[in-house]
Amino acid sequence: MRVVHSALEMQAIANKYREWGKRIGFVPTMGYLHEGHLSLVRRAKEDNDVVFVSIFVNPLQFAPNEDLDRYPRDIERDEALLEGEGVDFVFYPSVEDMYPDGFQTYVEVDKLTRVLEGKSRPTHFRGVTTVVAKLFNITKPHRAYFGKKDAQQLIVIKRMVKDLNMDIEIVGMPIVRESDGLALSSRNKYLNEEERRQAVCLYRALLRAKELIENGEKDAQAIKNEMERVIKEYPLARIDYISVNSLSSLEPINEVKDGDTLVSLAVFLGSTRLIDNMWF
Ligand code: PAJ
Repeated sequence: MRVVHSALEMQAIANKYREWGKRIGFVPTMGYLHEGHLSLVRRAKEDNDVVFVSIFVNPLQFAPNEDLDRYPRDIERDEALLEGEGVDFVFYPSVEDMYPDGFQTYVEVDKLTRVLEGKSRPTHFRGVTTVVAKLFNITKPHRAYFGKKDAQQLIVIKRMVKDLNMDIEIVGMPIVRESDGLALSSRNKYLNEEERRQAVCLYRALLRAKELIENGEKDAQAIKNEMERVIKEYPLARIDYISVNSLSSLEPINEVKDGDTLVSLAVFLGSTRLIDNMWF
């Protein structure tokens, strides 16, 4: 496995593999890797001839009041994990290399980014789409892998790729969870013991939604009310939003529609904001 710091060098390597007719699989991450990330890497290994993983804590997708400075990092552990998975190249650029002086070009997906996470974090997706577009141009993948954990991110990236005619297949992967159901996230590290115990409330609320929907409940408000009731059983949890949306448009919906429903929520445990979702 090779670790590449320079965007130019990474691009030259990508060009070589393309010349050789190899299929490139790409997994973008912000590091502090867990089994969720590794599930994407394993799938990329299966599907492609060569796998590139990027590790870059992207300042552009954090608002000034967010956790950029304390976002967890452990590059040595990340490298060991990726080496263990048989990854070929790790792209680990500096902020200066990605955003040199004079940088002023942004990629913005419009309507899809105004709801859900985009409403709570208005500048977030512009940062995500800009960095992912750059990373795609640097690593030139045939396929790129994203987790359904960040459902809106996956949907927004698919839209960007379609709208900008990027010749890349976007593969969405299932959410990997702890044994109690908490979705794996680098941010889980912020939780203290009691917060960690109560963090299971997101999954419990989603399970309740699943149960209701499987029993024929269609009314979004009834589902959200029940989810709220579940969360309120956990005193350290504070709801940011609970939402039922169309998976295709991300518009809020009043009625569950089979195959086109995203139930999602964001909840603070203490000062840590966690998100989770299920697709129906
Ligand atoms: P990061 O949070 O590091 O996540 C990298 C990828 O791992 C994302 O596609 C995310 O959805 C996926 N992932 C995270 N937790 C997961 C879980 N429990 N199960 C399955 N997949 C999971 O998402 C980002 O980084 C950034 O926004 C990025 C796309 C790299 C752009 O900066």
